[in-house]
Amino acid sequence: MKKYHVIIFGCQMNISDAERVSAVLESMKYKNTTNINGADLIAVVMCSIRQSAVDRVYGIIEKLKKSNKKPLTILTGCVLKKDKRAFTDGFDYVIDIKDIKKIPAIIKKSKTKTTDDYFDITPKYASRNSAYIPIMTGCNNFCSYCVVPYTRGREISRQAEEIVTETKNLVKTGYKEIWLLGQNVNSYKNKQINFPKLLKIVNDVPGDFKLNFTSSHPKDFSDELIDAMTKCDKLSMDLNLPIQSGDDEILKKMNRPYTVTQYKNLVKKIRKALPKIRLSTDIIVGFPGETRKQFNNTLKILKEIGYGVAFINKYSARAGTAAAKMKDDVPWVEKKRREKILIELTNG
Ligand code: 5AD
Ligand code: SF4
Repeated sequence: MKKYHVIIFGCQMNISDAERVSAVLESMKYKNTTNINGADLIAVVMCSIRQSAVDRVYGIIEKLKKSNKKPLTILTGCVLKKDKRAFTDGFDYVIDIKDIKKIPAIIKKSKTKTTDDYFDITPKYASRNSAYIPIMTGCNNFCSYCVVPYTRGREISRQAEEIVTETKNLVKTGYKEIWLLGQNVNSYKNKQINFPKLLKIVNDVPGDFKLNFTSSHPKDFSDELIDAMTKCDKLSMDLNLPIQSGDDEILKKMNRPYTVTQYKNLVKKIRKALPKIRLSTDIIVGFPGETRKQFNNTLKILKEIGYGVAFINKYSARAGTAAAKMKDDVPWVEKKRREKILIELTNG
């Protein structure tokens, strides 16, 4: 029996990718192993958001080169075009995430009929309790620091009927937590169904489960969505609403088209409609040109809003993005200092 091992980097979207990769490998009669050394095939689902994950993939390549087992290696997930070239030397196959259905054909060089449809694959869910359902992939927002529009391409929304069928099957099998996933779920649109409508439709699938969604862009968080949320009895009260910075000038440079005041008003509206909501957020410290004063504005907004959890990221320049052309002038130690202050604030 041939065995495969999957290494996952990054976000929930990548967990969802890995579940689809596993399903494809199992259709090829591979069995999963948690032991990398015993694997005949290693699939890496990578994340390019931060340079540190990319560096770890280089580390994996080095290790594989030294191993005498020589397993078959596949790299997929969020891979930048420029890295693809470098990685083709280290991996047997570098496969676009949209093409993972082609893995059997690529490996066996067989005439297996394939389609390009990522959503077509019934995934092998990693958890027995919660399941991730991608509702859209890609992003059209081009936040100046972010590689996602380059690695995942433009937004594509999935058919609502498919999402509902997947939800029904999962709930029937006993899943208690459903996550609707997308880089920007709020811009979901398929035929006449937008995200608020989809949320309500999924909520109304019979059964006992909690409903979550991520990620949300504040600019697309509509009144219609807030209203739909109040009508969804299965909705989890945890909501991630990334602010990224508490300074208007930095937000503008990040190409995040909202001001701190607009964000605060949005939070006010959400809390008024859903008083039990627990907010979390994402922050980037040390964006190019971020002064101490601008950082202090972020500190201020974190205190003011009072998030349950805040994910603090040190800015890391990503080649090809608009911000990579700006001077990365906040020293690493200063980024670390700012990160520490915010972590202490949000953990304390
Ligand atoms: N540097 C640091 N953090 C980043 N993020 C995205 N791109 C970068 C980058 N270049 C963070 C954002 C996003 C989260 C998933 O990762 O805060 O919300
Ligand atoms: Fe990246 Fe911005 Fe799109 Fe989120 S909304 S995936 S941060 S470009």
